[in-house]
Formats: sequence, C-alpha cells, structure tokens
Amino acid sequence: MRSLGLAGQTIMLAAKSMGLDSCPMDGFDYEAVGKIIHLPEDHLIGYMIAVGKGTKDAWPRPGQLSASEVILENGFGG
Ligand SMILES: Cc1cc2nc3c(=O)[nH]c(=O)nc-3n(C[C@H](O)[C@H](O)[C@H](O)COP(=O)(O)O)c2cc1C
Repeated sequence: MRSLGLAGQTIMLAAKSMGLDSCPMDGFDYEAVGKIIHLPEDHLIGYMIAVGKGTKDAWPRPGQLSASEVILENGFGG
C-alpha cells in the first residue's frame, strides 16, 4: 500500500503519453467491485483508475500553488 500513489501516478503518466486521459477514484464499494472482478482473498483494492479517451478538456483548476511554493531545496532555511 505504501507505493500505491507512485504506481497510480506512473499509470496515469503512461496513459497520458499514449494519448489517453485518466481519473483516480476511491469513492466506491470496494467489496462489490472485488466481487465483480473476482478479487482473490489475499488481494486488496487501494483505489481504481479509469483510463480512456477524454471526451472534453479538463476544466480550469484555480487555487493551485506554484511549483516554487511547494518545492524546497536544501531545507526550509532562508
Ligand atoms: C486516490 C484518489 C482517489 C480519488 N477518489 C475520488 C472519488 O472517489 N470521488 C471524486 O469525486 N474524486 C476523487 N478523486 C479526485 C478525482 O480524481 C478528481 O481529481 C476530482 O474528482 C476532481 O475532478 P475535476 O478536476 O473534474 O473537478 C480521487 C483522487 C485520488 C488521487
């Protein structure tokens, strides 16, 4: 589970490089989906990623921080 985010982001970046879009989701019934996909007893679902051809552009996402606000080099000191 520790590496789920890395794996998901890699899948989403790979999808983009193949001309596809994607959307991660975890707001679903894990047990019901597990039954549908015949999830083995010793497996867990972390989240799902829908991958496919986008039908329209993503809408603008205001309020995101700039890279310089979230990337630190050599610690917090000024
Ligand atoms: C691991 C993960 C799980 C997510 N699960 C949901 C979800 O269950 N429902 C949801 O609306 N958005 C979920 N999101 C966020 C969506 O992927 C998406 O960014 C969000 O719905 C905003 O979409 P929008 O950009 O079209 O507004 C999840 C994101 C991540 C990274």
